Amino acid sequence: MYVENSNAPARKPVTVPGLHAMKAEGRKIVMLTAYDASFAAQAEHAGVDIALVGDSLGMVVQGQSSTLPVTLEQMVYHTTMVARGLSATLLAADMPFMADRDVSHALEAGARLVGEAGAAMIKIEGAGPHILEAIHALTERVIPVCAHLGLTPQSVHKFGGYKVQGRVQDAADRVLAEALAVQQAGASLLVLEGVPTSLGERVTKALDIPVIGIGAGPHCDGQVLVVYDMLGLTPGKRPKFSKDFLAGRSSVGEAIAAYVADVRSGAFPAAEHSYN
Ligand code: KIV
Repeated sequence: MYVENSNAPARKPVTVPGLHAMKAEGRKIVMLTAYDASFAAQAEHAGVDIALVGDSLGMVVQGQSSTLPVTLEQMVYHTTMVARGLSATLLAADMPFMADRDVSHALEAGARLVGEAGAAMIKIEGAGPHILEAIHALTERVIPVCAHLGLTPQSVHKFGGYKVQGRVQDAADRVLAEALAVQQAGASLLVLEGVPTSLGERVTKALDIPVIGIGAGPHCDGQVLVVYDMLGLTPGKRPKFSKDFLAGRSSVGEAIAAYVADVRSGAFPAAEHSYN
């Protein structure tokens, strides 16, 4: 049964300006996915900065083979549940596949995820012209946006699988150009997924906004993982960029606290979790 932990010490709410100050001060940002109130409360208690209701829920909760079937309705439902488990952690929610097909749909989705479900930030994959337009339109309407570049899972069919991006010079230069473009369009944060460590470092140094890596090496301003991956619950082979933090520990809370501590200290990700 989900029980709110009223004895937990009050935490200062995490804000977008606060995340920017963390980058400026060189303090690592910790992001973790959550799909329901109980896991959200565990993340909150462990000191996670940003809880992300990722469309990865399509794969790890629904058992689908990609994130593409996840609907806006489902994102609103899970975001509403996660919001109930949080008080200080910043809540970000994914824009599901095709909900950003044009500006008016993106604004409608943003309004529902923020106004109805309680998110404080919307994450959008890609940097095509319509995405840049959507980022601009959302930020103009005071909805903070987290961009998502590199191995963007919604592009699985374009990439021909979940493949590391930016391995050759041209592709790396393109990712950097996209990162500068999403920042210019108004994004407050960038998730950079599945790129070599050297590119993760290059993008992090080039941008003023915080860069949160997942399989992007240790030099990013913060890290994000899928909670089921870092608890060793996802069936099949553990992704290289993840680590089973529950192994050798006796509770979900301890595992998330260890993840928070290792990201803050720079111990995670190690070379074995990164691409060269
Ligand atoms: O959907 C998701 O969970 C994500 C993270 C892996 C960054 O996009």
